Amino acid sequence: MQCDSGLLGWLKVPFLYNAFQAAVGATALRRRLIENHVRAKPGDKVIDIGCGSAPALQWLPEVEYIGLDINPDCIALARRTYGSRGIFTVGNPQSVRGNSRFKAADIVIAIGVLHHLDDEEAAHCIQFAYNALNTTGRFVCHEPCWIPSQGAICRYIMSRDRGRNIRTEQQYCQLATKAFKRVDTWVDMKPMRIPYVTIVLECEK
Ligand SMILES: C[S@@+](CC[C@H](N)C(=O)[O-])C[C@H]1O[C@@H](n2cnc3c(N)ncnc32)[C@H](O)[C@@H]1O
Repeated sequence: MQCDSGLLGWLKVPFLYNAFQAAVGATALRRRLIENHVRAKPGDKVIDIGCGSAPALQWLPEVEYIGLDINPDCIALARRTYGSRGIFTVGNPQSVRGNSRFKAADIVIAIGVLHHLDDEEAAHCIQFAYNALNTTGRFVCHEPCWIPSQGAICRYIMSRDRGRNIRTEQQYCQLATKAFKRVDTWVDMKPMRIPYVTIVLECEK
């Protein structure tokens, strides 16, 4: 679920969202994530769930890229920006279930998506990633994360996120291990220019 009302509604506009991301250091964070955790090789098939305007393509090598997002404005911007570098689809994991395009992937990524989904939707999304991967594939996701030692400012900033389902490391792991056998996690307590905490999950079958 997303809260797009009031002051935060403007973040729904892809151009403004991207400008905000760059200003707080989230763009550099995304680059580090792609380089250190996604680690795609040229020719890999990569499915990006909740791809937004597909900023991940800035740092991915020449891969077979398929982006999926429920926001048609994001998909339109992705198509305008990246054209033939990928296939960009409007939808969600439920609506593309059974579509053979979303199969046999080497890597599935979901960057900043699970905290927009309630537990049932998130479990669905993770199972979709599992089903879309080949046997040696990896699911990599990156999310805001609550930790007990979080300062008040950090907690306040994160509480203003449009996603209403930020979780603890344990809660993300519980969701991921329902589908995946192996789940490794990295919690970063200083990921950006603003007080924030993030987690990376690398999941294998
Ligand atoms: C925080 S943005 C992240 C976008 C992009 N991954 C990035 O790194 O900039 C979350 C995105 O997830 C999309 N989204 C939310 N729920 C979704 C769902 N159930 N299926 C597909 N996309 C979804 C939103 O439209 C939004 O573009």
